[in-house]
Amino acid sequence: MGWPVMHSRSPALHEFLLKQHGLYGAYVPLAIEPGRLEAALRALPALCFAGCNLTIPHKEAAMEIVDEIDEAARAIGAISCVTVGDDGRLSGTNNDWFGYVEGVLEVYPDWRADAGPIVVIGAGGGSRAIVYAMVRQGAREIRLVNRTRDRAEVLAHDIGGPVTVVDWDARGDALVGAAMLINTTSQGMVGNPPLDLDLAPLPKDALVSDIVYVPAETPLLEAADRRGNPTVRGLGMLLHQARPAWRSWFGIDVSVTPELRATIEATL
Ligand code: ATR
Repeated sequence: MGWPVMHSRSPALHEFLLKQHGLYGAYVPLAIEPGRLEAALRALPALCFAGCNLTIPHKEAAMEIVDEIDEAARAIGAISCVTVGDDGRLSGTNNDWFGYVEGVLEVYPDWRADAGPIVVIGAGGGSRAIVYAMVRQGAREIRLVNRTRDRAEVLAHDIGGPVTVVDWDARGDALVGAAMLINTTSQGMVGNPPLDLDLAPLPKDALVSDIVYVPAETPLLEAADRRGNPTVRGLGMLLHQARPAWRSWFGIDVSVTPELRATIEATL
């Protein structure tokens, strides 16, 4: 469920998995107006849905609607996945943080969050899941940079952990000595300008990643590639969050195979 939703790659992703696992069913994009989320979620049991994913702008609003919220969703303040129980109760969780971590580990299995300072750019919905993920994975220093400083302060307070808020104008300094850089803003997404960030102060061995996955290689990742930094693209986060979703909807463990990745990459 989203508004808008037709751009979502989730139908292609879950349709692939339904076919692969021989399940008779469908994953459909549901364009739900913001004021109608509660009615839409409450209709899921009657429509025999196993659950749904939520995207912009519904992730936060769902917190007030579902019957149970797990620890991750509560800490992040947003629900990305809803599961319908046998009794029709709705449980909300957030799988974005897991998807991000697994997406990094798929490319760099030895990656550790405590390897050095982590710079996170942005303090919107995506950033909340990323900062939560880094804290949960044992990060020792997170430098949070956002154009609007107040938003970063609120995020740092809400999530807790070793987070230092850095002014937008000092974002270059934040890169000095960093082990990892993560863009969580919408900058670099198709239709938006590139992220306004000069990578010169960033160590050449720092891992650079972006949660934007359209285009697959954002200008930030291209720039990082050119100077020899290791990079992780945004698509892994989307692909890997499907694993806990399938576990809670169907009790099935799915994998992110090269075929699945290629199928979704072909749609980008
Ligand atoms: P999402 O839920 O997808 O993260 P969001 O909540 O609208 O979306 O957050 C978008 C992020 O991109 C924010 O961190 C935003 O910064 P502000 O909090 O200052 O708005 C950031 N962002 C958007 N446009 C930007 C720009 N032109 N330059 C820098 N950051 C920008």
